[in-house]
Amino acid sequence: MSNINWDTIGFDAYRTRTVILSRFQDGKWSPAEKTENFSFTLDPFAQVLHYAVACFEGLKAFTQKDGKIVIFRPDENAARMRRTADYLGMPAPDEDLFISMCEECVKNNLEFMPPYGHGASMYLRPILMGVHPQMQLTPNPDALFAVICAPAGAYYGSNMRSFSAVIPGDYDRAAPKGSGSYKLGANYAATFKPYKIAHDQGYQELLFLNSATREYVDEYGSSNFFGIKGNTYVTPLSDSVLPSITNKSLQQVAKDLGMEVEKRKIPVEELAEFDEAAACGTAVVITPMYRIDIKPVLGGEEIERSFTYGEPEKVGPVCTKLYKTLTGIQNGELPDTHGWCHEVR
Ligand SMILES: Cc1ncc(COP(=O)(O)O)c(C=O)c1O
Repeated sequence: MSNINWDTIGFDAYRTRTVILSRFQDGKWSPAEKTENFSFTLDPFAQVLHYAVACFEGLKAFTQKDGKIVIFRPDENAARMRRTADYLGMPAPDEDLFISMCEECVKNNLEFMPPYGHGASMYLRPILMGVHPQMQLTPNPDALFAVICAPAGAYYGSNMRSFSAVIPGDYDRAAPKGSGSYKLGANYAATFKPYKIAHDQGYQELLFLNSATREYVDEYGSSNFFGIKGNTYVTPLSDSVLPSITNKSLQQVAKDLGMEVEKRKIPVEELAEFDEAAACGTAVVITPMYRIDIKPVLGGEEIERSFTYGEPEKVGPVCTKLYKTLTGIQNGELPDTHGWCHEVR
């Protein structure tokens, strides 16, 4: 057992022991290998280094109340990686290889697996990259698939408190009919600079609008958006947001709790009508927002409009209920009626 403080561990690139690897060559994936070597050797002409031919996934393993270790909905991540890889013209691991490599990654890094009861979990990062050396702008099936993991606590440094977000008046995330709904590394690269500026201005998150007309809410840089209006869970319908597995699960949890669920376009002005607004995703779980401002981030300081949802740090009752139910299922405190928890051990 490592000497990690499970109560204070954040969300970071914590080095564990074993990486699981497979290589696609000559039309097939090689049998998965384990290595304790955390370095990859790549040809400097490798596609990934020039053209960002790469994608990834993020999912979590939990130690449950009875000591079982489970991975949350890995079949969904396997399917999403296949969808992204297809967009990039890359081969992708099938569901069996994807899930078995995630399982191996957990089993071979057990000393870093957070125990039950600290709100921490093991974050798994499957990564897929095009490694063929070339200059041509054409797909090549030579690919490397690796699963790495890191013990993780809360993404924003503490469990369940509310933060603020900014809608950048001068920056878009995803082009219409572009790559927004795929989990490409390149989508994230373009958000690093506006994130840095937004953080320096005191915001934790960037909330993007649909870039074609800037009339509707799309998603945060790290997660999906949902708002609560009375007894209704409202989340954007858009072809440029990542299909979040957490959001999909929360829509089901909301229905199970007797709420209405609406997946539809959300006009920016409707932000004024929500009782609660939040971010949701594997890393952020549910992170409520107490305030969302619209302002330029790349230049200019003027706040064009503000929407508020209570006090800084405070969390609304519906977000609390959804959070407790979702994490209760993941931690084995509530029945897993939808069969979401995939047992590893
Ligand atoms: C841009 C973006 N949207 C949404 C999500 C949430 O997806 P999921 O719930 O599958 O983690 C993520 C990742 O966590 C993300 O990076």
